[in-house]
Amino acid sequence: MQIQEVSEVTVRSFRPGDENIFFELLRNSYESLEYLPRLKAEITGPSLNREGSLIAEKNGSAIGCVGLRDLPRKKWHELRYLAVKNGESRIPLAQNLVSKARHYAESNHAESLSAFVPAIQPYVDVYKNAGFEPVRRSIMIGWELIEQPTERGNVQTEELSKEHANEAAEVWVEGLRPYWDWWIEEQGGPEELQSWVKESVGTEPGWIGAFLDEKLAGLAILRPDAYGSGEARFNGAYVLPKFREKRIGSALMSAAIREAQRLHQKRMKVYTLALLDHLAPGSLLYLKSGGKIEAEYLQLQRTSDPTKISMLFSTPGGGRFSRAPPFVEPASSSRAVA
Ligand SMILES: CC(C)(COP(=O)(O)OP(=O)(O)OC[C@H]1O[C@@H](n2cnc3c(N)ncnc32)[C@H](O)[C@@H]1OP(=O)(O)O)[C@@H](O)C(=O)NCCC(=O)NCCS
Repeated sequence: MQIQEVSEVTVRSFRPGDENIFFELLRNSYESLEYLPRLKAEITGPSLNREGSLIAEKNGSAIGCVGLRDLPRKKWHELRYLAVKNGESRIPLAQNLVSKARHYAESNHAESLSAFVPAIQPYVDVYKNAGFEPVRRSIMIGWELIEQPTERGNVQTEELSKEHANEAAEVWVEGLRPYWDWWIEEQGGPEELQSWVKESVGTEPGWIGAFLDEKLAGLAILRPDAYGSGEARFNGAYVLPKFREKRIGSALMSAAIREAQRLHQKRMKVYTLALLDHLAPGSLLYLKSGGKIEAEYLQLQRTSDPTKISMLFSTPGGGRFSRAPPFVEPASSSRAVA
């Protein structure tokens, strides 16, 4: 595709101290369509590749940006935070930023390059025109933690302590499958994730387990105050495949909401997976527990050899994505998916 240069605009790499410029451009571009506390935490976090992240300037003022993130797996990267200020030449400038960031990643031998973008035009088309293909969606679901949950089944739930750490590591990775297989790969594989769980359970708060006959059958992860005082992050509910559809997920949701309320949380947010044409069970569970969809994102993948990658990643239904390689879910200082 021919990329039009935009007159009087210069593009430079991100420099230390530019976090606020990024944040203001994103705020200007998306306003209430984006969850700003999350963006702030990500931009100031360790995964932003500063050299590959770009700022467009006109007459000394920043008018556009795009971020390149390093994923935990070596040579896997993701483009995010594409924004052009209102009133500027939005499409050519956005195209220019994506093209330059892509060239940077490719010239550094990126093996996987994905993109994550609010499902908003013209940004989605800018990525598609740059050769990225939609692979799945991500949705943000939020709860106003006002009502007490009613679910009172026979599933026992409790906060996990250090003694559960090894079991929790197994249950979490198995509980992610098959929906998050791509994410496990992206994070460097199951062992990487398990070692993080072993360190985190009993050290960081918010690991809630569900037990059947005293065996851990599922878990949920709550991060109180993660997005500010009283603003919790929910890192998801996970149930071992053989115990699904027996209301264990519902019991975990009730336990997580009760725990959040006990900790004086006013709201809770999760980012979760949605396939291109339907919602995954996790989203349905969250909506049925009182959550509401607050934002929708598209995840896209660029690859020069789609057949190679489609061999590695299958859909939850067992079928293969025809051209659906791995991609990236919002990462964080923690390893948790959502
Ligand atoms: C999401 C998950 C935790 C649900 O756990 P569960 O114990 O099966 O859930 P429940 O039996 O309590 O079901 C609650 C609701 O979820 C939805 N649901 C659960 N499984 C479903 C499925 N296979 N298809 C469609 N909806 C489903 C239903 O709406 C159900 O309500 P209903 O029973 O009134 O129809 C489980 O499917 C899982 O571990 N998935 C993989 C991990 C994951 O993706 N978690 C979300 C991460 S953000």
